[in-house]
Amino acid sequence: MRRQLICANWKMNHSLQDGMDFFLKLESIDYNNPQSDAVVFPAFPLIQPLSTIGAKIGIPIGGQNLNENESGAYTGEVSASMLASCGASWVIIGHSERRDIFGESNELIAKKIIAALSGNLNVILCVGEHLETREDGKTTEFVQNQLAINLDSISPDDMEKITIAYEPIWAIGTGLASKPEDAEEIMSFIRNWLEEKFNTDIADKTRILYGGSVKPDNMSGYAAMKNIDGALVGGASLDAESFWGIIKAVS
Ligand code: PGA
Repeated sequence: MRRQLICANWKMNHSLQDGMDFFLKLESIDYNNPQSDAVVFPAFPLIQPLSTIGAKIGIPIGGQNLNENESGAYTGEVSASMLASCGASWVIIGHSERRDIFGESNELIAKKIIAALSGNLNVILCVGEHLETREDGKTTEFVQNQLAINLDSISPDDMEKITIAYEPIWAIGTGLASKPEDAEEIMSFIRNWLEEKFNTDIADKTRILYGGSVKPDNMSGYAAMKNIDGALVGGASLDAESFWGIIKAVS
């Protein structure tokens, strides 16, 4: 049985004080949720202090990106071991904003996944299509190509540390959430693909999250779907009560 996982992707939002206040708020509403897992992904400078406060209520912290190299002359970049040394145990790789704004290719994302695994980090690998691809009826082909390249050299054992987030790009930050049934169709396709590439056990165990305009009032619709194991949440994860509302919706 896969446990639901609710992830907060804060993107480039929240000062250190905002981040601390978020956790204090969760603590004060008695955050305690054995039914599902939660992870918060703040900006890099907040990782270390928030990992200390997050540990108190059992919420791990992750980075929103990493560099594929271990160390060296890469001004402005952060490696897997640096994230881990600051208390991060997770990292998001291949978010559509990294792919589209920063030009990250499928091949680069594959390298970043290897780097994250060498640093012993859990990975949220994001995939998902643009609106034109959906309108052309090419969503499954597009997502399959992303997965095939991103996970090209990944072994079945590595998959223990990998979660997949299906985020249709047209649904991110737009308020136009995908219908649960439409997301389920692609996510069931992803699970079948995992079975073909790896095996039935990996397909059964791997968590697949939905992302794109998830809110406290639409989360239960996703959680009711057979192949949806939680959510990667942007805007609605910035406020502690809203994040808690999403977690409660799957409990
Ligand atoms: P959103 O973002 O919840 O604001 O749509 C989701 C994401 O980008 O991961």
